[in-house]
Amino acid sequence: MSAIDLAVIAGDGIGPEVVAEGLKVLDAVTNGDVERTEYDLGARRWNATGETLPDSVLEELRGHDVILLGAIGDPSAPSGLLERELLLRIRFELDHYINLRPSKLLPGVTTPLAESVTAKGIDFVVVREGTEGPYTGNGGALRVGTPHEMATEVSVNSRFGIERTVRDAFERANKRERKKVTLLHKHNVLSYAGHLWRRTVEEVGHEYPDVTHDYAHIDAAMIYMVTDPSRFDVIVTDNLFGDIVTDLAAAVTGGIGLAASGNINPEGAAPSMFEPVHGSAPDIAGQGKADPTATILSTSLLLAHLGREDEARRIEEAVVADLAARGSQPRSTTEIGDAIARRL
Ligand code: IPM
Ligand code: MN
Repeated sequence: MSAIDLAVIAGDGIGPEVVAEGLKVLDAVTNGDVERTEYDLGARRWNATGETLPDSVLEELRGHDVILLGAIGDPSAPSGLLERELLLRIRFELDHYINLRPSKLLPGVTTPLAESVTAKGIDFVVVREGTEGPYTGNGGALRVGTPHEMATEVSVNSRFGIERTVRDAFERANKRERKKVTLLHKHNVLSYAGHLWRRTVEEVGHEYPDVTHDYAHIDAAMIYMVTDPSRFDVIVTDNLFGDIVTDLAAAVTGGIGLAASGNINPEGAAPSMFEPVHGSAPDIAGQGKADPTATILSTSLLLAHLGREDEARRIEEAVVADLAARGSQPRSTTEIGDAIARRL
């Protein structure tokens, strides 16, 4: 195996703290088989130079095997600027059309759900479409500042974009034990996009006779996620619904401190990018309070994506052991990273 050529974007807020622990674990499990290049992107750079993502940096990013990202977003920049020009631009330019977000209730983890609900286990993965929906910036404002001001934010749903996402969801379901895909949408109101998504699931579903599929409206799905999350195996949904549902999914499986994600280009035409689901949390930045577990689990997804399944599994096992051993004493970001790295 040749060394992993890793681009690191630590980013803003708690990003650098959690990424440091992710790298520690990645080094431990691979015996240092990682060549990393760090990129100074985010609020610091924007404040200093006005740059968000120079084209030359984007081109450099393309040349690496894979990207590890901490978090992007800071109160010193206008809301949405770094998100759109940096994070979403990377996701779109590198065609990260699968935003993969697993949710598994691991042993010993505290959840707000009743024991009667968790007894059946929670283990599902959200396949969130990553390049379309209302995220494309297809909108505008009219008559700004007048009493008739209007804003539009058009949701883009292409057959091509939906189909490749749905196919990925069926592929993943086919490799899992329960082999079930659930589409979450809102076709009773969003009829045009809703019907396209439904029809695509029906059609692609025919290619996977071993995988069952069903449908839930996104609002009703929020109830199920709290009252009966064991019904979900692979969820497929659009970019915005997927954003919202994965925060709730994180909340019921131990909190945002544990939720990992991958922005994946399944064909490998460009490097995929792995990041915790959480944001930059500027309120606790620099205090060693952030839980690096979400980033550490994201490095496990990263390794699995590179086909290094054995190392990926070892990280997950080390996290499971650490979670089971967690007492009531709060630990710092580095203490958690050290404890997990020591188990490898
Ligand atoms: C996430 C975040 C991003 C998103 C923001 C920061 C653009 O909330 O990764 O879930 O909406 O995708
Ligand atoms: Mn989000």
